[in-house]
Amino acid sequence: MSLETNIRHLLLPGCIYNASGPRCTDIKELLKLDKSESALVLSKSATLVKREGNPKPRYFDHDLGSINSMGLPNEGINYYLFLAPTIKNKPYFISVNGLTLQDTLKILNGTIRNKNVTGIEINLSCPNIIGKGQLAYDMTEMDTYLHTIFNTIEFSLHPTLLIGLKLPPYFDLHWYPMVTNILKKYPIHFITCINSLGNGLLVDSESESVVIKPKGGMGGIGGKYIKPIGLSNVRNFYLEFEKQNLKIDVIGCGGIETGLDIFEYILCG
Ligand code: SIN
Repeated sequence: MSLETNIRHLLLPGCIYNASGPRCTDIKELLKLDKSESALVLSKSATLVKREGNPKPRYFDHDLGSINSMGLPNEGINYYLFLAPTIKNKPYFISVNGLTLQDTLKILNGTIRNKNVTGIEINLSCPNIIGKGQLAYDMTEMDTYLHTIFNTIEFSLHPTLLIGLKLPPYFDLHWYPMVTNILKKYPIHFITCINSLGNGLLVDSESESVVIKPKGGMGGIGGKYIKPIGLSNVRNFYLEFEKQNLKIDVIGCGGIETGLDIFEYILCG
């Protein structure tokens, strides 16, 4: 099987690239990805200004997976825009999470003016912002958010820019048509499924304690734990898009460690 693929008009030599996460935050990490086998380079979710993130310890992993409550530590959008020309070997995507709609609009307004950026992934699903829920679990809020973005930002200034959304895991099957009915109103090229499974809790029985500090130990669960949920989300969106004849590409994410994991995601859509 050829591993070449495409996200809409963008041809890629392989079907694997990094998720937006802790190892694509600074220029050293991004340049390492640029020299790697990754098909493209995707940044950590950028906010309008630099953020330190949540108090440490905020990440823990073991055999079955990880828990994190990073809280979007990142260098701020100008950093990710400024370094764009240094990513010379691969398409460069920036993940965006403005925290507020107003900040997201400011970030997108700057991003569409940078021709070295090939794509953006708007993160609607971070579970780790203290005091805030995951936007993509609130259908009305998500619709309003997307409506404002697509009616405010002049995406025509960068007509080849790919626009995607990072979604949280959905569980009940009725969510997939509901989310799809919102997405199809907007020119979205791809979705990434899934972000971590929000507000899990890992407990260390030895120390009789939680393993990370923020939010009473609760954080996003990743790794092996979540692959079945990632596969199901990819499958369900793939089927729903096919049913409605929509051209939205689905990027699988979650619990991928081996070629077999990748093959299973490909089989699901
Ligand atoms: C984080 O920085 O807290 C993780 C980002 C995310 O899950 O969207």
